[in-house]
Amino acid sequence: MYRRAFRGFQQARAVATRVTQERRAPLAPLALVAGAGASALWLSQERQKASHCGFFSPSKGNFKVCVCGGSGGIGQPLSLLMALDDNVGELSVYDLNIAMVPPAGVAADLGHLESKVQVRGYAKGLEEKAVDALGDCLQGCDLVLVPAGMPRKPGQTRDDLFKINANIAKEVVEACAKYCPNAVVALIVNPVNSVVPAMAELYKKKGLDPKKIVGVTTLDGVRANKFVAEIAKEHPNNVNVPVIGGHAGVTILPLFSQDKHAAKIPQAEIPALDKHVQDAGTDVVNAKNGKGSATLSMAYAGARLGKAVLAGLAGTPTTECAYVASDVEKDFPYFTSKVTFGKTGVEKVHGIGSLSPYEAKRLEEAKAALKKEIQSGLDYAAANSLA
Ligand code: NAD
Ligand code: LMR
Repeated sequence: MYRRAFRGFQQARAVATRVTQERRAPLAPLALVAGAGASALWLSQERQKASHCGFFSPSKGNFKVCVCGGSGGIGQPLSLLMALDDNVGELSVYDLNIAMVPPAGVAADLGHLESKVQVRGYAKGLEEKAVDALGDCLQGCDLVLVPAGMPRKPGQTRDDLFKINANIAKEVVEACAKYCPNAVVALIVNPVNSVVPAMAELYKKKGLDPKKIVGVTTLDGVRANKFVAEIAKEHPNNVNVPVIGGHAGVTILPLFSQDKHAAKIPQAEIPALDKHVQDAGTDVVNAKNGKGSATLSMAYAGARLGKAVLAGLAGTPTTECAYVASDVEKDFPYFTSKVTFGKTGVEKVHGIGSLSPYEAKRLEEAKAALKKEIQSGLDYAAANSLA
């Protein structure tokens, strides 16, 4: 009976595979388990526009990727999504040995997926130094995704996390500088606005390329696209709102005027929509009621950025918004704008384009807040160095 059911399942899968191959835009099923809840996600492969990389990209690369904080709320689903990218040949899941789930367990679990990836778990004790312990984990890595760090609780700002999370990021970045200095290091850990300048300047001090440090702000664009799609009654795949500036409060600046669907929204509705995007992270923090911040949507967004980086490394330049060392805005050494990832990582940082009068006014507000947050990062780098 069981065998018959299983044969039936295999036949159905074979038919489904044939059908989807014919359509060349398959939907891939993913069972996604994270934290206490379990949820199923179906992810579309249709995001192959220039500025949206696909989730199941053509098999090209054989890259080594590490997820630092890989046993955490973001880390587990992010590891799952990266394990399903055909550009990934090896995946290191790294976390502390006091993490909720041992990274070896996450790796064993992911090791049963029907994908080409080899997954290995690495744990470190609190008394050990990452720079001593992570040789095998990081050696040869092309991309290091870093959700390691504390999430917010209701009432906290992202900036409140700076002291603790900057030290966690420094530990990881120090190990990257030693074992994989050419890897793209994508920092998800908050506050992105300050942690990224801090780590990039530490790379610079060490004689490394600060452009290897990339701040992950993709979730702001994901949210803006979703909210516009709901208003415009469009599929979110057809919406592409660049979100520039930074990743906290008023520094999050969605450029609705630059998307054809968003541009049709009456101007009177734009301030509330803008605020909705700015406050979306806080809304999730409040809804989770002290049990964390966005994890699943962040894993989705982090994987989108990660896949864009790998697509670029594999020879398909791919563009996403990211917070990087930049000269697009005078006096702002770090800024989010569209970035094209190519064979060596960040290939081109694009200008912000034309703005509506509302967006031009908001840009000034965003810059005033971002300036202070960048400065905190620069101060941290001035007071610290990588081993
Ligand atoms: P979490 O607590 O669920 O997971 C964090 C993981 O990091 C844990 O497994 C923990 O053991 C690990 N960790 C802590 N210190 C470490 C160290 N020194 N070395 C290695 N691993 C370490 O938190 P989460 O919900 O996954 O959030 C992680 C971070 O991501 C937070 O700082 C959060 O604010 C940030 N975040 C950023 C965005 C964004 O858009 N950039 C979105 C959501 C969350
Ligand atoms: C988000 O935007 O969801 C993250 O930055 C997490 C947070 O603290 O809001």
